[in-house]
Amino acid sequence: MAHGYTYQDTLATSEKITWRIEDIIGGSKSLDFKKPFMPESLARTAPLGFLSPAEQRILNQIRGHAYLCIFGLVEEFILPFVVDHARPQLSGDDHRARALLNFASEEAKHIHLFKVFRAEFERDFGHHCDVIGPPDAIAKAVLAHHPLGVALAILHIEWMTQRHYLDSVKDAQELDPQFKSLLRHHWMEESQHAKLDTLLVEAIAAKCSPAEIEQGVGDYLKVGMLIDGGLEAQTKFDLAALAAVTGRTLSESQAREAYEVQRQANRWTYLGSGMTHPNFLATLGAIAPNGRKQVEGIAPAFC
Ligand SMILES: [Fe+2]
Ligand SMILES: [Fe+2]
Repeated sequence: MAHGYTYQDTLATSEKITWRIEDIIGGSKSLDFKKPFMPESLARTAPLGFLSPAEQRILNQIRGHAYLCIFGLVEEFILPFVVDHARPQLSGDDHRARALLNFASEEAKHIHLFKVFRAEFERDFGHHCDVIGPPDAIAKAVLAHHPLGVALAILHIEWMTQRHYLDSVKDAQELDPQFKSLLRHHWMEESQHAKLDTLLVEAIAAKCSPAEIEQGVGDYLKVGMLIDGGLEAQTKFDLAALAAVTGRTLSESQAREAYEVQRQANRWTYLGSGMTHPNFLATLGAIAPNGRKQVEGIAPAFC
């Protein structure tokens, strides 16, 4: 409990944060396709010097579209997981029950938010971009793992979101204001989720035998591999969309370089930035010191 998180405090903070989807997007608030959507540290289009600035911006926006879809997709397994874990804990601690139900309700709102942004994107971008899925099949595959493994994967995602906003988005002045606003509003609620999921991981781990802890860490890594397979496919979709939108045919060596740079950019965005977050590693290390070492050992491949 070195972190000091409590259900009561996170509930109090989350009750002060109130925003509606219609406050962020829709009506006169539309995406500005003259600007990038993603920070360069996540998009990594600048190393592709053979793309013109306009082509780099289009690839950046395609990556923004994929971000909407991938977050929509992961939140489809976070929502049922949180609801399932809230259900047996509705009595006994009123703050805990309300904090967990708020967590679930906010994730349902985020799924909706990402869908609305995606519809706005598709309306104004003018080209269809393929995405991995379907979300319910991926959610089913993820939820088949040990609950500790799923809870660790969710904790990774929650801290990853914090890192994306604080390290890369908050001070980036060049981004489209609407997309930046999406990331800021998401971050505001996710900072309570990261704390609540820390408490969830600890509660699940407290009931696990050493063998189950080991299985949970192994399953966290398996969920990571599942996501990594999806990212490989998404990288190909994104580059195919770039070719379709720009009409540009890359040489064989340029295409290989674009794939390698974007593959690693996706790995950092969704895997490396979560698995190396100090707060994620602290929670993992407290329940499974060897699991932490294992994750730290493989993390450089995802950075
Ligand atoms: Fe969320
Ligand atoms: Fe969340």
